[in-house]
Amino acid sequence: MIIQFCGLSGSGKTTLAKKVKKHFDATPINIEIIDGDEYRNNLCKDLGFSKEDRHTNIRRLAFVAGKLAKYKVVPIICAISPYEEIRKEIATSYPDVKTIFIKCSLAELIHRDTKGMYAKALLPDGHADKIKNLTGVNDPFEIPESPDLTIETDEESPEESAQKLIDFIEKNAKANL
Ligand code: ADX
Repeated sequence: MIIQFCGLSGSGKTTLAKKVKKHFDATPINIEIIDGDEYRNNLCKDLGFSKEDRHTNIRRLAFVAGKLAKYKVVPIICAISPYEEIRKEIATSYPDVKTIFIKCSLAELIHRDTKGMYAKALLPDGHADKIKNLTGVNDPFEIPESPDLTIETDEESPEESAQKLIDFIEKNAKANL
């Protein structure tokens, strides 16, 4: 099984994946987190945030996930992955891909703004520090049409969200063990 997350920056994808990985560390289920931010610092260092580069980014992350999944590791791809087309491509290119929507309102993300990026994207046009292509503000995010699971990080506690994902993985990974 491969899990592909999608959700805006700051929605809690990596935090959730880390919590869930910690839970499974003491079990026979092995989780590997394939994190967009981390891979953008090495394997995907050459990529920016155009539609094409985001497609290439997700394809590379999924390629790594595909290799790991052969050895019964459950990879969790933690990336924004804003386009339905590429999410569908990944879901049909590899066996047993589950798409999970990490949902959080933009208002809450602007409030959290852990990396200060939303404030920069909301600066007036022409401002030297303005970010012009931040997903969800001035770049598209396509809501997934039929995700296998939706986790609402602005409605649930971190524990509830983690438990939902743990239950989902336990239910779906059993067949692979
Ligand atoms: S994706 O769109 O290709 O799936 P990915 O998840 O790898 O994106 O990277 C998103 C991270 O890059 C964000 O969490 C943020 O730290 C950083 N980032 C920098 N610029 C942008 C931008 N314009 N849009 C979205 N994320 C950005």
